[in-house]
Amino acid sequence: MVPYLQIIDHPLIQHKLSFLRDRSRTVVEFRALVRELSLLLAYEATCDLPLMEKIVTLPDGSSCVTHKLENDALCLIPILRAGSALLEGMLDFVPTASVGHIVVQRHHETLAAEEFYFKAPSDLGKRLCIVLDPMLATGHSAVAAIRRLKQAGAGAIIFTCLVAAPEGVKHLHEMHPDVKIISCALDEKLDADGYIVPGLGDAGDRFYGT
Ligand code: URA
Repeated sequence: MVPYLQIIDHPLIQHKLSFLRDRSRTVVEFRALVRELSLLLAYEATCDLPLMEKIVTLPDGSSCVTHKLENDALCLIPILRAGSALLEGMLDFVPTASVGHIVVQRHHETLAAEEFYFKAPSDLGKRLCIVLDPMLATGHSAVAAIRRLKQAGAGAIIFTCLVAAPEGVKHLHEMHPDVKIISCALDEKLDADGYIVPGLGDAGDRFYGT
């Protein structure tokens, strides 16, 4: 596996992903699985976060040196709409994280990404920025969102998704070679409509019941 791409080959992740791909999942089941998987993605993506020392007083009155996250360590940036699906699970794991938002939509014919909205903390350069999108398909949205984050001062950026296509991984790496991609699976290919094969269908529609 190449260093910029991490596939989380953990049995629990593969087990949950198997249920997630199944078309018979209800919206409630789909949401619960995405929440669990995004928590596990957050665990992987945050393994190098900087810590600061904190002295705590123990129950017996003595003190010891512990380590806590720096307050401005993290910013989660879902690419709306589907990226929001990963947000709650990640916030379960890192509730102190700041959240930025970006709306990027694929043009239905060209599949190129168009930006409609962007809002993020002003000190992005001090934070690890974790970009969320369940599906890395063509990579157009991811490339556009990360370009925008860099314009806004972001430095350290990790892209997280549930399922990646080789085409999207290649495109994202070519355009942003400094960005690590963490995914639960690397699927086979894209179909003619830009959907991942085997994939899990339209992740946004399945999560939001549309
Ligand atoms: N977006 C999805 O929701 N699914 C895909 O397969 C590709 C893009």
